[in-house]
Amino acid sequence: MKFIIAVIKPFKLEEVREALGALGIQGITVTEVRGHGRQRGHTEFYRGAEYTVSFVPKVKLELAVDEHMADKVIEAIQTTGQTGQIGDGKIFVLPLEQAVRIRTGESGTAAL
Ligand SMILES: Nc1ncnc2c1ncn2[C@@H]1O[C@H](COP(=O)(O)OP(=O)(O)OP(=O)(O)O)[C@@H](O)[C@H]1O
Ligand SMILES: [Mg+2]
Repeated sequence: MKFIIAVIKPFKLEEVREALGALGIQGITVTEVRGHGRQRGHTEFYRGAEYTVSFVPKVKLELAVDEHMADKVIEAIQTTGQTGQIGDGKIFVLPLEQAVRIRTGESGTAAL
């Protein structure tokens, strides 16, 4: 299993969510976050407003997926999350050791 963490532009959330839904993704956690990449100290636009502060609003997605789904998920986020402008975000992929569905006690891919 893989654990995929993606930071995207907030206005891209619906488009990315639809693409992930089309792939058959079941579970996802979405969090409103703030961050910056390598242009720290430079301006970035968010909803028409210019941010010169250190942190820009972003949305963080977290998904635990079966091994064979990982590349499709990464590609879907990369292509639908892209505007081509700075600040489009990042995708981080981690090995996932275990998952447990609390209601039933199922574990591993059965818990996804
Ligand atoms: N190395 C990192 N570690 C953790 N979070 C990061 C990292 N790089 C970027 N992020 C997160 O992703 C968001 C978007 O980063 P961003 O797309 O600006 O990266 P970048 O490397 O500056 O690329 P670009 O040149 O396209 O802007 C940041 O606001 C931050 O929340
Ligand atoms: Mg940047």
